Amino acid sequence: MSYRVQIAPSMLAADFLNLNKDVELVNQYADAFHLDIMDGTFVPNISYGFPVVEAIARKATKPLDAHLMIVHPEKYIDRFAKVGVDMLSFHLNAVDNPGQILAQIWAAGMKPGLAINPDIPVESLFPYLDQCHYVVLMSVFAGFGGQKFIEATYDRLKTLKAEIDRQGIECHIQVDGGVSAANSQRLIESGADILVAGSAVFKAADPKAAIESMQ
Ligand code: DX5
Ligand code: ZN
Repeated sequence: MSYRVQIAPSMLAADFLNLNKDVELVNQYADAFHLDIMDGTFVPNISYGFPVVEAIARKATKPLDAHLMIVHPEKYIDRFAKVGVDMLSFHLNAVDNPGQILAQIWAAGMKPGLAINPDIPVESLFPYLDQCHYVVLMSVFAGFGGQKFIEATYDRLKTLKAEIDRQGIECHIQVDGGVSAANSQRLIESGADILVAGSAVFKAADPKAAIESMQ
């Protein structure tokens, strides 16, 4: 199976006063919209909610990938499905019953993902890999855009990729946080196939070139 790396710009770094322009950029040059949903409880920051997601959904021609950094993600599964979200991830340590929630997301017609922060052992994902469309390996601590990439991510990525191959399953690996053209190549070589990038895309002088340089 060959699978080209996908670039999912994080809309957290978009220009909210000119959202249309940034949505068009993703539609034209990237592969998916990464939507960071923060509740001020699971993470210390609050981002945006349904009004913004719905506005993006109306204009988006690329899939929507929502990253829930919230407690009780299970409460909002149907709502995200209704908005038209395609991929929905939540954090392993935000819930008591990850397997059940992954099943609920499949049942709602979306592709589920399980996310972990840099301080959670990758091995804790292993029992759930065969129920995931993707896993989200955080390369910064969830909560804020614009943080510095954590180098230990490469080794974690290799361990995770080796286990996915060992299980012989099709589970994609998304890396999220501090991703740029400076580390994209090594991330892809280490097993990542979906790269999330916020600042590196939207704060670049040439966002289109920034996306292309990561591919
Ligand atoms: C962090 C978010 C990331 C973030 C990425 O909590 O999950 O998606 O917006 O932004 P950059 O690429 O700026 O690190
Ligand atoms: Zn994210």
